[in-house]
Formats: sequence, C-alpha cells, structure tokens
Amino acid sequence: MNDIFGKINNLRKKRNAIILAHNYQSDEVQDIADVTGDSLELSRKAADNNADVIVFCGVLFMAETASILSPQKTVLLPDIHAGCPMADMIDEKQLAELKDKNPGAVVVCYVNSSAEVKAISDYCCTSANAVDVVKSIDADKKIIFVPDKNLGQVVKERTGRDMVLWPGYCPTHHFARADDLTKIKELHPSAEVLAHPECPKEIRDCANLLLSTGQMLKYVKTSDKNEFIIATEVGIIHSLKKQNPEKVFYTASERFVCPNMKKITLEKVLFALEDNKYVIRVPDETAAKARKALERMVAVLPK
Ligand code: 13P
Ligand code: SF4
Repeated sequence: MNDIFGKINNLRKKRNAIILAHNYQSDEVQDIADVTGDSLELSRKAADNNADVIVFCGVLFMAETASILSPQKTVLLPDIHAGCPMADMIDEKQLAELKDKNPGAVVVCYVNSSAEVKAISDYCCTSANAVDVVKSIDADKKIIFVPDKNLGQVVKERTGRDMVLWPGYCPTHHFARADDLTKIKELHPSAEVLAHPECPKEIRDCANLLLSTGQMLKYVKTSDKNEFIIATEVGIIHSLKKQNPEKVFYTASERFVCPNMKKITLEKVLFALEDNKYVIRVPDETAAKARKALERMVAVLPK
C-alpha cells in the first residue's frame, strides 16, 4: 500500500498533476487526493488550478466538466466505465424534443448530465446551488429541469416556480428505503438526519436538512449536535469522521453505495498517471456551448 502511495506521489510531482476526488470515493482514494469535495467544489477547482494533468476520481460527467472548464489540461478518468446512470437517463435528442414542446422555457440541467445535454441547456446547477440558480432566472419564465426528478421537486417546492421535470433519478438514492431510515431513527432518536436532495420524497420528508455532500461537511463542523444519520452515499462518512472525530455518524441505509464511484481504486489512479488513461476530452464545439451553461453555474452562489 505504501509503495502505491509513493509511486502515485512521485508521478503526481513529475507530471504536475492534481488529484480531485468526489466525497463518495473510497477512503484511500479520498486520502491520496489533493482536493476532495462535492460537484460544485470540484468544478471550481477544475477551473482554477495550475496543474497540467487532472486525475478525476469520480464519474464521467465530472471528468467531462473538468475538460470543458479546463480544455488546455489533460483530464484523466481512472476507470472509463465509471459512468452515472442518472446522467444517461436523458440524451440531447430527448432534451431537444422537450424544448420543442415547451417553447420559451429556460433549461436548467443538473451537472449530472452529458456534455451534449449541457451544450443545449441555458444553465447548469449542482445540488448545492440549484435553488439559487433557478431563483436567478426571470420569474415569468417556465423552467425545464433535467434529469433528476427528486432534486427538481425540491427546487420546485422551494421556489414555487413553474417547472417541467424530467423523470430521471439516481438509482443509489432513489431506491434507498424509508423503513431502513425509520429503524435507524428509532435506535438513535436524538440524531439529526441529513439527506441528499437526490433522495425520494419519503426519505426527504424524514430529514431535518437537505444538503449537497459539501454542505453536509460544512454543516456538521459547525453544528452543536453530536449524532447524525446520513442519507447519502456511504463514502462521505470517511470525511465526516476524519473532520469530526468526536461526533458519531450512522448511514441511513446500507443501500447507499454508488457502484460507479467505487470503480476507482488506488491501483487505477496509479495506472492513470503511468499510462495517461483514460483521457476525457469533450469536442471543442460541444465544450464551447456547454461551458456557457457551466460558467453561469460556477458564478452563482454559494461562494
Ligand atoms: P454532490 O454534488 O452533492 O456531491 O452530489 C453529486 C452526486 O453525484 C450525488 O449523487
Ligand atoms: Fe450518479 Fe447517483 Fe452515483 Fe451520484 S450517486 S454518481 S447521481 S449514480
């Protein structure tokens, strides 16, 4: 294990590489990363760093986002099969049809989407800024929100806006069971429940707060509570424990595992740096259009 850490560190220096890891990555991948964070934090970091190479420990749409924001850099995804099933639930043809059915509507796409879908969207958003992005759009405009119906419902409830929602969802969050959460709540009645907005309504309704993964980490640090039930992918528990050794965390359901996030391993990070694989490069024309939607997102609060 130490040997792998040493080899990755040497190559990271030699290639002037930065390793970005999403909060859902395995413990050891998070530990080797230069930066860990949620989709918004990692997008910002991908757009603003001095590295020549970005090793993206996450899923395809995240590496594509990094390539769109930093086209001059080499962006590597250590496992080419690490995709996001939710992002694959809508393609550009389906979005174009939806736009035709709703002329004049403004399209907001969740960052969990393909580069082609971003390219025909007006705004991008993450779970950390979706409400702020929608609020920033003229109040008389109808909004098309793709692809996550759960995050879309949360935004609709919080903004009261006229929104058309695409019926996509994250299988990891959507199929988590409310009765698993209820049992954990019964065992730990004073714990606060933090849920990701990708969760279905029955889980969201049991939560004290709906937060992106980065917002969960920030909230727990400053909260005076000591026990938390976490309704999102289990990988985040590692950072929560590391940053708050005196606090206790329970996962809301053992089903909260994203098999795609877990495809990235330390070995694959090493191979990525050794063999320059897998290079993710969004074609220039698509990237230029998608960048506009992403830049609007990166500019919106929270800072
Ligand atoms: P965050 O932006 O909250 O980290 O979420 C990303 C994601 O893929 C959730 O499933
Ligand atoms: Fe996609 Fe869900 Fe995995 Fe996030 S947790 S990457 S939305 S499948």
